[in-house]
Amino acid sequence: MCGIVCYVGHQECSGIIMDGLSRLEYRGYDSAGIAVLHEGNIAVARQEGKLSGLVTRLNESPLPGKMGMGHTRWATHGRPSENNAHPHRVGSVVVVHNGIIENHLELRAELEREGAQFSSETDTEILAHLVSQTLSKEASLKDAVKRSLERIQGSYAIVVMNESSPDELIVAKNASPLVIGMGENEMFAASDVPAILKYTRDVMFMEDGEMARISQSGVELTKLDGTKVNREVKRITWSHIQAEKEGYKHFMLKEIHQQPTVIADTLRGRVSIEGSGVATELMGFDDATARRIRRIVLIACGTSYHAALVGKYWLEKLAQVPTEVELASEYRARDPLIDPNDLVIPISQSGETLDTMEAIKIAKAGAARILAITNVVDSAIPRASDGTLYTHAGPEIGVASTKCFTAQLAALYMLAVHLGRRRLTLTKDRARELLENLLRVPTLMNEVLKQEDRIKQIAQDMANSRDALFLGRGLSYPIALEGALKLKEISYIHAEGYAAGEMKHGPIALIDENMTVVVVMPNDDSLKRIVGNVQEVMARGGKVVGIVSESDVESASIEMERIIIPDCAPEISPLISVLPLQLLSYHVADFKGTDVDQPRNLAKTVTVE
Ligand code: M6R
Repeated sequence: MCGIVCYVGHQECSGIIMDGLSRLEYRGYDSAGIAVLHEGNIAVARQEGKLSGLVTRLNESPLPGKMGMGHTRWATHGRPSENNAHPHRVGSVVVVHNGIIENHLELRAELEREGAQFSSETDTEILAHLVSQTLSKEASLKDAVKRSLERIQGSYAIVVMNESSPDELIVAKNASPLVIGMGENEMFAASDVPAILKYTRDVMFMEDGEMARISQSGVELTKLDGTKVNREVKRITWSHIQAEKEGYKHFMLKEIHQQPTVIADTLRGRVSIEGSGVATELMGFDDATARRIRRIVLIACGTSYHAALVGKYWLEKLAQVPTEVELASEYRARDPLIDPNDLVIPISQSGETLDTMEAIKIAKAGAARILAITNVVDSAIPRASDGTLYTHAGPEIGVASTKCFTAQLAALYMLAVHLGRRRLTLTKDRARELLENLLRVPTLMNEVLKQEDRIKQIAQDMANSRDALFLGRGLSYPIALEGALKLKEISYIHAEGYAAGEMKHGPIALIDENMTVVVVMPNDDSLKRIVGNVQEVMARGGKVVGIVSESDVESASIEMERIIIPDCAPEISPLISVLPLQLLSYHVADFKGTDVDQPRNLAKTVTVE
């Protein structure tokens, strides 16, 4: 977690750094800080709480200077406080860090024995002490950082600045992201591209085990052992405007509304109706391999896990490959059986989730083939995989994932059709029909978005609820799970998702007149049975909100709140029926006045265990 930005160049830098940090707040927001070098002195300003506090402070006491670094924090070691905020300073050295130093207790004890005095509870301060101590024995700042990193175990993306090195920043990376941006006589580095996109589109993604000296005139990228690295410079095509709110009250609302476009982008150039197929570029395996796959294992966390649950239905039904779905944190907690004919599919919006990354390492050790489904290009997970099916959703800033979820679904659906064709479990005509249905999704999503006023009315009532149940069957079961996760993470209302058939095995005991039950019940094979579940809830006084298809007559006589979704082929219903649940959660949270884009205790990217 945490966001880092640094700058060296010809411009006053504190505005540039603060602007970058504001685009990284999704990575953490419990405290923030900045350090700027000016006339041989480094000034540091740190503040507990959100970035706005630091902005006010800098407005009152600006920090001049043309080289500096900033940090927005999500606490791992040490509670959120000004003392624990980065940058950490020891002598003439300041450091910002994203990651976890695993051997921090031993190193801290050792440094304290040698007389070091600590001013924070963080693991990061250890690094500042090590660099400061080593600097007296080494010729260069880079060598001092290198020697210090040799003593550290764990993950890091760091920036180090020294008062006596007026034109250089040392950056290094291991298992936490860092990208270098190249401008005209100015250089940047940041945890993520949106932080620097306003200033440059030319970037270089650092790999694990690399460090760089960056100065106004350029970058020297090496491995930790000093070997020179020549890395291709990539041109980013999306603009920083795409990462802003575009008039919506929150990023989450903007991202919900972007979904028709996002799905069209994810499908663009990949789906061929004439050829009844899906382009396989980047998937990392050929047709013969596709036919050899014995089992698929989908691995993910949170919302991406719910996408995986939907994917299982499609992969088993359309491609007829036995498919298992694993929570990454549980997969890595046991000794899973892995076969070289397994296709392991990690799904991760950020491409950085630590548990998912660790699960990949286990699957690779078992010689399985890895195909990632990820939104962030060149992030850690695609780099560790044999191939990647990118979801082209653009940056997702709201902590609650919405557009990336539906983009993941679109990618999984395409993959299921592709494998179905390669393995001859789908005829050409059936594949064409499935793909035509998929291409209709953006239009159908637009129809759902027109229901927003109606959803808002229902949300106003729900905002007073203490608990909610979400029910679904078949393909709608993972959607019920996702609806419950969305509601709890942004509105803090306790919500549970259940397979509707499980209701009478326990949750029915919770039903009374205070319980809202949201039932995902599109027109499909399960409709009759789920209508039965709705009647059971109503008979016990529960309030039901049904997500129902336009032409549904089965539930017509039931007196419940309805959110109507357009009729669609049953296979694509998850891509449609999740939208009302996203909007419902959003408006409930907005009525309650919670911090929708940055809900308490959460972070966008979970790079810790
Ligand atoms: O980046 P990832 O898809 O790997 O993230 C997984 C989860 O942390 C994420 O989906 C989380 O559950 C979101 N807050 C859900 O809205």
